[in-house]
Amino acid sequence: MTRIKKIPRKDYGIFVDIVANAYPGMQINTREEKERSKRMLLGAVRRSGTYHFGAYQKDTMVGVMALYDFMMNMAGSTIPVGGIGLVAVDLLHKKEKICRDMVTYFINRYHRQNVRMLALYPFRPDFYKKMGFGYGALLNQYSIRPGDLPQTPGKTNVRFLHKRDTRSIKACHGHFLRQRHGMMTDRETKWLHLFDNPKTKVVGYKDRRMLSGYIIFTFRKAHETNWIKNDIVIREFIYESREAFSGLIAFLRSQSDQVNRIIYGTQDEHFHYILQDIRSGNDNLLLPLAHESHSQGIGVMYRVIDVPGLFRDLAAHRFGTVTLCLKITVTDSFYPANAGSTVVCFTDGRPSVSKGKRCDAEITIDISDFSSLITGAVDFRHLYRFGLAEISNEQYIQHVDQLFRIDEKPLCMTQF
Ligand SMILES: CC(C)(COP(=O)(O)OP(=O)(O)OC[C@H]1O[C@@H](n2cnc3c(N)ncnc32)[C@H](O)[C@@H]1OP(=O)(O)O)[C@@H](O)C(=O)NCCC(=O)NCCS
Repeated sequence: MTRIKKIPRKDYGIFVDIVANAYPGMQINTREEKERSKRMLLGAVRRSGTYHFGAYQKDTMVGVMALYDFMMNMAGSTIPVGGIGLVAVDLLHKKEKICRDMVTYFINRYHRQNVRMLALYPFRPDFYKKMGFGYGALLNQYSIRPGDLPQTPGKTNVRFLHKRDTRSIKACHGHFLRQRHGMMTDRETKWLHLFDNPKTKVVGYKDRRMLSGYIIFTFRKAHETNWIKNDIVIREFIYESREAFSGLIAFLRSQSDQVNRIIYGTQDEHFHYILQDIRSGNDNLLLPLAHESHSQGIGVMYRVIDVPGLFRDLAAHRFGTVTLCLKITVTDSFYPANAGSTVVCFTDGRPSVSKGKRCDAEITIDISDFSSLITGAVDFRHLYRFGLAEISNEQYIQHVDQLFRIDEKPLCMTQF
């Protein structure tokens, strides 16, 4: 009985009310705050690639969601990705499967558009895992004393950036996106509003007038009464080259007199190698004897909605150097149209979806884990070891493991 449709302009007042009640932390309470949110939402939808949908029962809106068109670097190939955010259900209509209906609509909509991959940030990972979304790479959050960063050259090339630099910042982000697996495009509104908040600082590394790296950051109070003690919170750290990385690290290190700690979250699993002292500062000792270095969490989650379609989209990608016909059988209880078997023949790593049934081995896996596997967030060997994937012939474990290995964990800095 729930009907999903694009939210007409006249319903944006109710839209904001539903969001305000679902996310009290957003502090949308007064008339002015509600008006501002309404303007922002209407502004966002005017930009291409953002859509607001409502779930209606008769003529009453009972749930809302925002959908986004993104592009993603998938191991060197560029593929479209559908994103979902701002999911909210009217307090009076919770647990009536409205969210389920909206997510189903989300999947169907992108499936119709030949998009094979979806992404979201979960309010609760288990809620969306049940719906077939798999974990992306762990986010590592460091709390770094500036002086523990290495002494590197290049600081003199670091400049403050301003609104007039937005175009080059976006271009630099685009270059980085093409270099790094997992990176996705951002919403237009991010670039439009980047400098709206005067607390947001942006520094960039410029070499021969070309921007090849930048950091977006804010300061944060680090002490209740001592206002001189502040942290830097990094929102985004982009670098196209070793030189840009070196220069921006030098900038951060040089803040050691003023800045208590630098808070930095990254899916780069090797970042700690750069630190002189990797301890996070709280002196926690983990068993049997390990110094706490950072905290970790699951952020972005991915979902494949069309297994054969994804392999067709990735025809140019080389899955290792393996030659093998693999039957991939996925279970997908939330979206049964996606469940079933696909035979993919890899010739020296190049995939081709086969119409025949002949295969060398078959793997069976849930769609959530397959989504983590194909994005390189997890490897096959571990899924098999933990009983999360099965294989018809154990002799092929190593081959399948090689097929799905990607050198680096997927990075995702896109917020939605
Ligand atoms: C989180 C929120 C959106 C959930 O909305 P809801 O309409 O109450 O959720 P639903 O009733 O659709 O619950 C999901 C249902 O999907 C169904 N479902 C999940 N996986 C399924 C599967 N694999 N197969 C079949 N059905 C499945 C289940 O029936 C589940 O209901 P249950 O938990 O009662 O068993 C809502 O509580 C809310 O607005 N919260 C505040 C804002 C928020 O945190 N939003 C999320 C941002 S990502």
